[in-house]
Amino acid sequence: MTSARPDELDGMGSLRRTHACAEIGPDLIGREVVLAGWVHRRRDHGGVIFVDLRQRGALVQVVFRPDVSPETHERAGRLRSEYVILVRGVVDRRSDDTINPDLPTGEVEVSVQELRLLNTATPPPFAIEEETDAEESVRMRHRIHDLRRPPLQRALRLRHELLQATRSTLAELGFLEIETPMLARSTPEGARDFLVPSRLQPGEFYALPQSPQILKQLLMVAGFEKYFQVARCFRDEDQRADRQLEFSQLDLEMSFVGVDDVLDVLEAVTAAGAQAATGAALPRPFPRISYADAMARYGSDRPDTRIQLELVELTDVFRESGFRAFRGAVDAGGIVKCLPIPDADELGRGEIDRLESLVKKELGGRGLAWIRINRDGRWQSPIVKFLSEEERAAIAERAGAAEGTVLFFQADQADKANAILSRLRIDLGRRLGRVDDRAWDVLFVVEFPLFERTEGGEFTYMHQPFVAPLEEDIPFLETEPGRVRGTHYDVVLNGVELGSGSLRNHRSSVQRRIFEVMGYSKQEAEQCFGFLLNALDAGAPPHGGFAFGLDRWSMVLAGAESLRDVVAFPKTQRGQDLLMDAPSEVDADQLKELGIRIAKPRGNR
Ligand code: AMO
Ligand code: AMP
Repeated sequence: MTSARPDELDGMGSLRRTHACAEIGPDLIGREVVLAGWVHRRRDHGGVIFVDLRQRGALVQVVFRPDVSPETHERAGRLRSEYVILVRGVVDRRSDDTINPDLPTGEVEVSVQELRLLNTATPPPFAIEEETDAEESVRMRHRIHDLRRPPLQRALRLRHELLQATRSTLAELGFLEIETPMLARSTPEGARDFLVPSRLQPGEFYALPQSPQILKQLLMVAGFEKYFQVARCFRDEDQRADRQLEFSQLDLEMSFVGVDDVLDVLEAVTAAGAQAATGAALPRPFPRISYADAMARYGSDRPDTRIQLELVELTDVFRESGFRAFRGAVDAGGIVKCLPIPDADELGRGEIDRLESLVKKELGGRGLAWIRINRDGRWQSPIVKFLSEEERAAIAERAGAAEGTVLFFQADQADKANAILSRLRIDLGRRLGRVDDRAWDVLFVVEFPLFERTEGGEFTYMHQPFVAPLEEDIPFLETEPGRVRGTHYDVVLNGVELGSGSLRNHRSSVQRRIFEVMGYSKQEAEQCFGFLLNALDAGAPPHGGFAFGLDRWSMVLAGAESLRDVVAFPKTQRGQDLLMDAPSEVDADQLKELGIRIAKPRGNR
């Protein structure tokens, strides 16, 4: 609507920008400058027009006075928000009463002599400010305006710093950046693939890579020794705040290494990334915690250890118990654990009822048993009447239950009980301020089990099928696969899994045995992974590696809540790009060429 006639707009002419807005300060007072940017705000004050000029996240006040140039002043009156302008003027000190201490450039202003209108602009759908109350769908449809807002300008800059620092750290350590194809082969591990139909091979499909995992292993067999790549990955999974359909990994792989060699590199890269992006110096060496320990103490394999609450194991106490709810869970192969919260007087009954309903309604728990140890030593609880003396004594001893403590219990299958208690630990820990004041909490989680059981009781891989077992656990592959620990490790920053990796199976016999434990027949293994097995047989060196999720990493460093706040053009929960309107229908001709007929056209769904 405001698109201007071409002859109403100015060119840049012979004017060349001399400075960025962020560079304008008292050192330039008296100097002539040429600036360009967007009209952030315009105010008319008794004949003088003030414009906040915005460029690359910085604002400078530029002033149009009728006595400096009547014509320029007159044209400035027609400027609107988001118009694109170029100005030439002189940097002045602001009068004392107009200095703006909130603005880095707030001591000065530019008195404009010449204005060029480079472009007009449609009115912005929401204000280009630090905070916005615009709905997410509106922000995503008008992503360019959203991207003009300071948090997104900062986040993408931070992401850039992170990328540059990690890239150069890896290059300095001798890693080669090697690209791998986007049009790859569908393999059955991991999430659902995105398929791409082949025109030249009708009826056949490529798959977009879920990660460069197998290809980077092939590069090790091919002798490149140290590889890295900023790799786009595609996974057709349900979306969450920390998941996108497409995302980026900082992916790496190394040969002739053990776990410690890889962790050394990960530590260097993680520290360099944090330093470059936020200036933070992460404390080194990073602490390590085993998967078993993390699950026992925090109920999670990505604990935020700044939260100073820990879970307590009680399963053995209730093995013979008369309390049916707990005993039943143990009999069914589950566990009993509790979360003690010392000095929890402020947790009132209403609050506890609210938590119980959260656990039952949203987290799928069977209940939330609790005990409050009153200041007078009395135990107040809906379950205390079911507990024996010995059980009470055991709880008091293990949970260190002093007066004022409230304990929450879960009796359920281990994964469910841990997930619920971990969630309560985080929620209550934050709400009650049981958090130490370190800004950054980084750690390695190591020694994950190689396999987990599916609901049907079969073995499946815990992380991915290529993880090498710990050398000393290899014999258990034949006898007791559930006991085999893997070489898998994660990097966790502030309770977020930044990335995962492991040593890989470089001996095809071990890899074949793992496929077998997972229930693949020889033919299936050959058919799906033959090219990998052949490569291992071609003289594969011992190797291992890692992939950082760059989006998640940027999210944590930026202090953002969602990946959508650190991705330039993200997709919605429903996998849509509202800006480009993708996915979209395509021409019948395109489909015909690909030999594809749509079984359920739109509207019939
Ligand atoms: P993994 O599947 O654990 O490992 O992925 C590594 C890291 O990538 C990030 N990530 C995601 N980020 C955004 N959206 C998603 N949907 C998503 N899925 C994963 C996470 C995760 O930690 N090839 C192996 C790595 C290896 O073993 O070297 C792999 O892909 O931060
Ligand atoms: P009930 O005997 O079922 O009324 O349960 C007594 C108390 O134990 C209630 O506070 C329930 O919320 C709680 N509870 C019941 N089952 C479980 C369970 N599996 N885990 C934790 N708490 C439970």
